[in-house]
Amino acid sequence: MGCTKGYIPQDIESNPPYNSDTITYESKIKDIISNNCISCHSESNPQGNLLLENYNQVRSASENGTLIQRINDVSNPMPTTGLMPSSKRAFFDEWVQDAFLEN
Ligand code: HEC
Repeated sequence: MGCTKGYIPQDIESNPPYNSDTITYESKIKDIISNNCISCHSESNPQGNLLLENYNQVRSASENGTLIQRINDVSNPMPTTGLMPSSKRAFFDEWVQDAFLEN
């Protein structure tokens, strides 16, 4: 039969890029933005002159702007009504660490 690849090498099994909870824009970030941010940051009248309607806009605000700081800013939070649960904010940290995966 020649089943020479029938095992998983230790280093692949234990290294982070292969874990199952990778966060992507489509899998997690988009919904959080839709539910918590888009009412104030969309086309008609974007608050702070910031649009968060698509991948490129959200990535740019996270990578080059203050999005990550503001969702964790106790005294000046986004959304303005108060910090989101830490479980939701943790998805953003993971997303940054994984280099802003889209899908
Ligand atoms: C109720 C309306 C409202 C909601 C909801 C809201 N924002 Fe904002 N946002 C504002 C306003 C008003 C400003 C401009 C004043 C300021 O910076 O505090 C702003 C500014 C910002 C800025 C700074 C922009 C800049 O370049 O100075 C970021 C980043 C931001 N929002 C991200 C978010 C994110 C991410 C969410 C959702 C998690 C969110 N906001 C939800 C009203 C809102």
